[in-house]
Amino acid sequence: MNDRVRKAVFPAGGLGTRFLPATKVIPKEMLALVDKPIIQYGVEEAIASGIEHIIIVTGRGKSAMEDHFDVSFELDATLERRGKHELLAVSRGVATMARVNYVRQKEPLGLGHAVLCAKELVGNEPFAVILPDDVIDADPPCLKQMIDVFEEKHGSVLATMTIDGQAISAYGVLAGSPDPDNPRIYNCTGMVEKPKLQDAPSNQAIIGRYVLTPRVFELLEQTKPGAGGEIQLTDGIKALLKEEKVFGYTFEGKRFDAGDKFGMLQATVEYALKRPEFGDKFRAYLKELVC
Ligand code: G1P
Repeated sequence: MNDRVRKAVFPAGGLGTRFLPATKVIPKEMLALVDKPIIQYGVEEAIASGIEHIIIVTGRGKSAMEDHFDVSFELDATLERRGKHELLAVSRGVATMARVNYVRQKEPLGLGHAVLCAKELVGNEPFAVILPDDVIDADPPCLKQMIDVFEEKHGSVLATMTIDGQAISAYGVLAGSPDPDNPRIYNCTGMVEKPKLQDAPSNQAIIGRYVLTPRVFELLEQTKPGAGGEIQLTDGIKALLKEEKVFGYTFEGKRFDAGDKFGMLQATVEYALKRPEFGDKFRAYLKELVC
């Protein structure tokens, strides 16, 4: 088995119902956060973390993502003719930033099933999973932090965050205990997808970044539908835990749930404030609004 994490799988076949009506025609992964589709943030994070090969699991009506990471001949020719060199570089940059392959998830059978669709493209090597809805602002990038842990601990790594109260029921939740030597690392003994608050084994929620060993594919093939009647990635990793070590990792950085309207608004404000071209102007505008 090649031990280097070179490939990242982006499950992007979902319907995006939390963002209707915007996502009736446009894939939710293509919604713009300031001026970039949210999936591009994940792809840039993967590349900055050393990933060489992006695998996007798409579905019906999701072809805008393929066009986005492809060359747009007409657009580029027009920008060139008009002497818009900076914009041309932006357009070309997106098309050349990574090697991207696509695989279709023919039925929406769940996140575990979506990841399983990438089995042939990943092969027998460890790989990352990035859920594009979870936009993470971090330096070093969240996935890079996790790959470092994977290389040190030789076991799968799941990004985690502390979530208190009822909100825990929207997540996969870990059972286990913090590592005595490194409080950011959580030694997993179990996990459960979307538990009721009273059944949650801890307040450690799984966030959409994973570094997994390829054994998980075989286990996902045997995973029966779980929470919500879907084949859950959490259940596949729970089976992996019987054979291999799995760690939670509290990443350094800030996560936004950009698949949710309120989360997208928060991300929009924070990412806009960081933009050198208009951050100060936007800050002044916000101050004016709240005064
Ligand atoms: C998925 C996973 C869940 C994880 C969450 C993180 O759920 O199934 O374990 O906690 O992503 O965002 P979803 O948000 O797709 O319902």
